[in-house]
Amino acid sequence: MKKHQIAILVSGTGSNALNIIQYFEKKCSVRVAVLVSNKRSSEAVEKARNKGIESVVFNNEWFKNNEKFLSFLKSRSIDLIVLAGFLLKIPKAVTDTYQKKIINIHPSLLPKFGGKGMYGDHVHKAVIKAHETKSGITIHFVNEKYDDGAIIFQNELSIKKSETAESLAKKIKKLELRYYPEIINRVINDLL
Ligand code: GRF
Repeated sequence: MKKHQIAILVSGTGSNALNIIQYFEKKCSVRVAVLVSNKRSSEAVEKARNKGIESVVFNNEWFKNNEKFLSFLKSRSIDLIVLAGFLLKIPKAVTDTYQKKIINIHPSLLPKFGGKGMYGDHVHKAVIKAHETKSGITIHFVNEKYDDGAIIFQNELSIKKSETAESLAKKIKKLELRYYPEIINRVINDLL
Protein backbone atom coordinates (compact mmCIF):
# COMPACT_ATOMS: atom_id res chain seq x y z
CA MET A 1 0.00 0.00 0.00
CA LYS A 2 1.27 3.47 -0.93
CA LYS A 3 1.96 5.69 2.04
CA HIS A 4 0.64 9.23 1.70
CA GLN A 5 3.47 11.66 2.20
CA ILE A 6 3.19 14.83 4.29
CA ALA A 7 5.49 17.85 4.33
CA ILE A 8 5.27 20.05 7.44
CA LEU A 9 6.26 23.72 7.08
CA VAL A 10 7.27 25.65 10.18
CA SER A 11 8.84 28.90 11.34
CA GLY A 12 8.80 28.45 15.11
CA THR A 13 8.93 26.17 18.09
CA GLY A 14 7.11 23.29 16.46
CA SER A 15 4.93 21.93 19.24
CA ASN A 16 2.25 21.19 16.64
CA ALA A 17 4.82 19.76 14.23
CA LEU A 18 6.18 17.35 16.85
CA ASN A 19 2.66 16.36 17.90
CA ILE A 20 1.75 15.60 14.26
CA ILE A 21 4.96 13.60 13.76
CA GLN A 22 4.19 11.53 16.86
CA TYR A 23 0.57 10.95 15.80
CA PHE A 24 1.51 9.67 12.35
CA GLU A 25 4.32 7.44 13.66
CA LYS A 26 1.53 5.06 14.65
CA LYS A 27 -0.33 5.21 11.30
CA CYS A 28 0.79 2.89 8.56
CA SER A 29 -0.89 4.72 5.66
CA VAL A 30 0.65 8.16 6.24
CA ARG A 31 4.23 9.29 6.65
CA VAL A 32 5.70 12.67 7.58
CA ALA A 33 8.36 12.74 4.87
CA VAL A 34 10.00 16.07 5.57
CA LEU A 35 9.93 19.14 7.78
CA VAL A 36 10.82 22.42 6.10
CA SER A 37 11.62 25.61 7.99
CA ASN A 38 12.47 29.14 6.93
CA LYS A 39 14.31 29.72 10.23
CA ARG A 40 17.66 28.14 11.01
CA SER A 41 17.00 28.68 14.72
CA SER A 42 13.60 26.99 14.60
CA GLU A 43 13.38 24.49 17.48
CA ALA A 44 11.14 22.40 15.25
CA VAL A 45 14.08 21.40 13.05
CA GLU A 46 15.95 19.85 15.98
CA LYS A 47 12.81 18.13 17.27
CA ALA A 48 12.05 16.55 13.89
CA ARG A 49 15.68 15.46 13.35
CA ASN A 50 15.64 13.74 16.73
CA LYS A 51 12.62 11.82 15.48
CA GLY A 52 14.54 10.74 12.37
CA ILE A 53 12.56 13.00 10.03
CA GLU A 54 14.39 14.74 7.20
CA SER A 55 14.54 18.43 8.18
CA VAL A 56 15.70 21.22 5.94
CA VAL A 57 16.05 24.98 6.26
CA PHE A 58 15.62 27.31 3.29
CA ASN A 59 15.81 31.09 3.24
CA ASN A 60 12.78 33.28 2.50
CA GLU A 61 13.89 33.79 -1.13
CA TRP A 62 13.77 30.05 -1.73
CA PHE A 63 10.11 29.96 -0.72
CA LYS A 64 9.30 32.62 -3.35
CA ASN A 65 10.90 30.53 -6.11
CA ASN A 66 8.00 28.50 -7.53
CA GLU A 67 10.21 26.15 -9.49
CA LYS A 68 12.48 25.24 -6.56
CA PHE A 69 9.55 24.95 -4.16
CA LEU A 70 7.46 22.74 -6.46
CA SER A 71 10.29 20.51 -7.60
CA PHE A 72 11.34 19.94 -3.98
CA LEU A 73 7.81 18.82 -3.08
CA LYS A 74 7.72 16.60 -6.14
CA SER A 75 11.10 15.05 -5.30
CA ARG A 76 9.67 13.96 -1.92
CA SER A 77 6.36 12.78 -3.53
CA ILE A 78 4.39 15.08 -1.24
CA ASP A 79 0.61 14.58 -1.23
CA LEU A 80 -0.32 17.02 1.53
CA ILE A 81 1.37 20.14 2.91
CA VAL A 82 0.71 20.97 6.56
CA LEU A 83 1.49 24.44 7.86
CA ALA A 84 2.28 24.42 11.57
CA GLY A 85 3.21 27.96 12.52
CA PHE A 86 4.67 28.83 9.11
CA LEU A 87 4.72 32.60 8.71
CA LEU A 88 5.42 33.14 5.00
CA LYS A 89 2.74 33.37 2.34
CA ILE A 90 2.56 30.32 0.06
CA PRO A 91 3.07 31.37 -3.60
CA LYS A 92 0.08 31.11 -5.92
CA ALA A 93 1.81 28.56 -8.17
CA VAL A 94 2.07 26.24 -5.16
CA THR A 95 -1.49 26.82 -3.89
CA ASP A 96 -2.76 26.23 -7.44
CA THR A 97 -0.83 22.97 -7.79
CA TYR A 98 -1.82 21.76 -4.32
CA GLN A 99 -5.45 22.92 -4.28
CA LYS A 100 -7.20 21.58 -1.17
CA LYS A 101 -3.95 19.83 -0.32
CA ILE A 102 -2.43 22.51 1.91
CA ILE A 103 -3.82 22.93 5.43
CA ASN A 104 -3.19 25.52 8.11
CA ILE A 105 -4.19 25.94 11.73
CA HIS A 106 -5.01 29.38 13.07
CA PRO A 107 -5.44 30.24 16.78
CA SER A 108 -8.74 32.13 16.46
CA LEU A 109 -12.22 31.65 15.08
CA LEU A 110 -11.64 32.84 11.50
CA PRO A 111 -12.62 35.05 9.78
CA LYS A 112 -12.12 36.97 13.03
CA PHE A 113 -8.55 37.90 13.97
CA GLY A 114 -6.89 36.58 10.84
CA GLY A 115 -4.75 38.14 8.12
CA LYS A 116 -1.26 39.58 7.86
CA GLY A 117 0.42 40.15 11.22
CA MET A 118 -2.17 38.07 13.06
CA TYR A 119 -0.08 35.26 14.50
CA GLY A 120 0.93 33.97 17.92
CA ASP A 121 0.30 36.32 20.83
CA HIS A 122 -0.83 39.13 18.52
CA VAL A 123 -4.01 37.13 17.96
CA HIS A 124 -4.74 36.46 21.63
CA LYS A 125 -3.98 40.06 22.66
CA ALA A 126 -6.39 41.34 19.99
CA VAL A 127 -9.09 38.88 21.11
CA ILE A 128 -8.80 40.01 24.76
CA LYS A 129 -8.68 43.69 23.78
CA ALA A 130 -11.89 43.29 21.76
CA HIS A 131 -13.65 41.76 24.84
CA GLU A 132 -14.64 38.67 22.87
CA THR A 133 -16.64 36.10 24.84
CA LYS A 134 -15.22 33.19 22.87
CA SER A 135 -12.21 32.19 20.82
CA GLY A 136 -10.94 28.92 19.41
CA ILE A 137 -9.05 27.26 16.60
CA THR A 138 -9.66 27.11 12.87
CA ILE A 139 -8.23 24.50 10.53
CA HIS A 140 -8.57 25.55 6.92
CA PHE A 141 -7.34 24.97 3.40
CA VAL A 142 -4.71 27.41 2.21
CA ASN A 143 -5.01 29.69 -0.78
CA GLU A 144 -2.75 32.53 -1.89
CA LYS A 145 -4.11 34.94 0.76
CA TYR A 146 -3.40 34.82 4.51
CA ASP A 147 -5.96 32.84 6.56
CA ASP A 148 -8.52 32.92 3.77
CA GLY A 149 -9.14 29.39 2.41
CA ALA A 150 -12.22 27.23 3.04
CA ILE A 151 -12.74 26.28 6.68
CA ILE A 152 -12.49 22.56 7.47
CA PHE A 153 -12.94 22.58 11.23
CA GLN A 154 -13.41 24.94 14.18
CA ASN A 155 -13.53 24.33 17.90
CA GLU A 156 -14.34 27.07 20.37
CA LEU A 157 -13.94 27.90 24.03
CA SER A 158 -15.48 30.52 26.32
CA ILE A 159 -13.37 33.42 27.52
CA LYS A 160 -13.64 34.26 31.21
CA LYS A 161 -13.67 37.87 32.42
CA SER A 162 -10.30 37.25 34.12
CA GLU A 163 -8.71 35.76 30.95
CA THR A 164 -5.34 37.12 29.82
CA ALA A 165 -3.61 36.65 26.47
CA GLU A 166 -1.25 34.19 28.20
CA SER A 167 -3.97 32.04 29.76
CA LEU A 168 -5.94 32.07 26.50
CA ALA A 169 -2.83 31.03 24.53
CA LYS A 170 -2.37 27.98 26.79
CA LYS A 171 -5.98 26.87 26.31
CA ILE A 172 -5.82 27.36 22.55
CA LYS A 173 -2.58 25.36 22.31
CA LYS A 174 -4.31 22.46 24.08
CA LEU A 175 -7.09 22.51 21.46
CA GLU A 176 -4.53 22.63 18.64
CA LEU A 177 -2.64 19.61 19.97
CA ARG A 178 -5.87 17.72 20.51
CA TYR A 179 -7.46 18.29 17.09
CA TYR A 180 -4.89 19.11 14.39
CA PRO A 181 -3.47 15.59 13.75
CA GLU A 182 -6.95 14.07 13.74
CA ILE A 183 -8.26 16.58 11.20
CA ILE A 184 -5.16 16.14 8.99
CA ASN A 185 -5.81 12.41 9.03
CA ARG A 186 -9.46 13.01 8.08
CA VAL A 187 -8.46 15.28 5.17
CA ILE A 188 -6.02 12.68 3.89
CA ASN A 189 -8.63 9.96 4.02
CA ASP A 190 -11.31 12.14 2.36
CA LEU A 191 -9.32 13.79 -0.38
CA LEU A 192 -6.42 11.67 -1.49
C1 GRF B 1 0.07 27.84 16.51
O1 GRF B 1 -0.51 28.60 17.50
C2 GRF B 1 -0.76 27.86 15.25
O2 GRF B 1 -2.08 28.13 15.49
C3 GRF B 1 -0.15 28.98 14.44
O3 GRF B 1 1.20 28.95 14.77
C4 GRF B 1 1.39 28.43 16.07
C5 GRF B 1 2.50 27.42 16.01
O4 GRF B 1 2.88 27.00 17.29
N1 GRF B 1 -0.44 28.83 13.05
P1 GRF B 1 3.93 25.85 17.49
O5 GRF B 1 5.21 26.27 16.81
O6 GRF B 1 3.36 24.61 16.89
O7 GRF B 1 4.08 25.73 18.97
